[in-house]
Amino acid sequence: PRNASRDAAGTVQLAGVPVTELAEEFGTPLFVVDENDFRSRCRDMLRAFGDNARVHYASKAFLCGEVARWVRDEGLYLDVCSGGELAVALHAGFPAARIALHGNNKSVAELEQAVTAGLGHVVVDSLIEIERLEAVAGRHGVVQDVLVRVTVGVEAHTHEYISTAHEDQKFGFSIAGGDALEALAMVFEAKNLRLVGLHSHIGSQIFDIDGFEISARRMLGLLRDAIDKFGVERTAQIHTLDLGGGLGISYLPNDDPPPLADFAANLRRVVAEEAARAGLPTPVIAVEPGRAIAGPGTVTLYEVGTTKDVSLDAGARRRYVSVDGGMSDNIRPALYQAEYDCRLVSRSSEADPVVARVVGKHCESGDIVIRDTWMPADVGPGDLIAVAATGAYCYSMSSRYNLLTRPAVVAVRDGSARPILRRETVADLLSLEVQA
Ligand code: LLP
Repeated sequence: PRNASRDAAGTVQLAGVPVTELAEEFGTPLFVVDENDFRSRCRDMLRAFGDNARVHYASKAFLCGEVARWVRDEGLYLDVCSGGELAVALHAGFPAARIALHGNNKSVAELEQAVTAGLGHVVVDSLIEIERLEAVAGRHGVVQDVLVRVTVGVEAHTHEYISTAHEDQKFGFSIAGGDALEALAMVFEAKNLRLVGLHSHIGSQIFDIDGFEISARRMLGLLRDAIDKFGVERTAQIHTLDLGGGLGISYLPNDDPPPLADFAANLRRVVAEEAARAGLPTPVIAVEPGRAIAGPGTVTLYEVGTTKDVSLDAGARRRYVSVDGGMSDNIRPALYQAEYDCRLVSRSSEADPVVARVVGKHCESGDIVIRDTWMPADVGPGDLIAVAATGAYCYSMSSRYNLLTRPAVVAVRDGSARPILRRETVADLLSLEVQA
């Protein structure tokens, strides 16, 4: 992380706070969020995308009240995809008009929550939902702004994209199949809905602009068709082209995501060119980064509990280093074979490095934090290890597997630390019990 340094004893400081103090005060495992890092990435996004753009932070990457306030104060919009995320955002004082609601199966209760709170827009994802939302809005005497989520036929994978064979998934309305025009027609018929834009999300952890370019081209092509079919007047208020999230970050030392300013400038240029090609004015670009804002500035601190040398073929050995969390606080290695980098952070070590695997404390052999790494040979019980770039989709996908309690999350800034989510306790587990 940007704000890390080592003192004379080799103890790492995060934003000026020694990890040993953090572990002592808040316990481990611990998520440590660098507040200035998070906030500066919000500002970088606004600067990179410029005035004719809207940046929505994707809550699913990580949301709590304090994070919602950072996002609000930095002037971004917020995407939520459940009643829970919406409730946390509103409770934190996030202005409803700057919130958008996503999801392929929003409940009637969630739609009611959105409409009555006065959300900026709802991204509609099925014909049934359009009908439902129309009814809810009508019941409350509201005209609700909506975007229609479309499937552009591009699926981005980590470092590549494939431009065929991904129509078969649950999100959005297919452009190629004609479903998107049908959805637009239905929204135009709905008296209590107002179509203000099109949305597509092509994937996550993307380093390359090409998928977005195709996405923009196909959405603008759809808009062109919609104008021809439904007329200039009915389509006049469609001003937003939402390209979704997906900007990739660096997890390992050699990962090389493009600089944000270049990425954004390319995206803006491509959208302007595609709009001109379709004979349309340049739309407002919306983006929905989650990982690129929340990911890089957070580390997970673990304490080492045990180590064990395991014999491999040909007489080689591997050091298993067990930490006090694992797949309950970071499911990504098990779920996506995601790779992370870690360091011994409580002290320095001159010991020779050994081949190591960092594992959690769960009852599964797939409970791996880092599959292959090097670790000083003297790392052992009581040492602290930090895993980098765990701010996105680790806490938010955490579980209570094996009835571990969720870690605390602390924010560090200018030499001080404060909790933004407390550690779960056994009392929290027991509070769900129904008394016999
Ligand atoms: N917008 C929409 C509609 C999305 O579905 C997502 C992510 C985002 C924005 C934010 O994408 P980001 O900028 O964070 O890549 N759990 C996975 C990632 C799944 C993302 C799902 N949607 C992971 O841990 O990598």
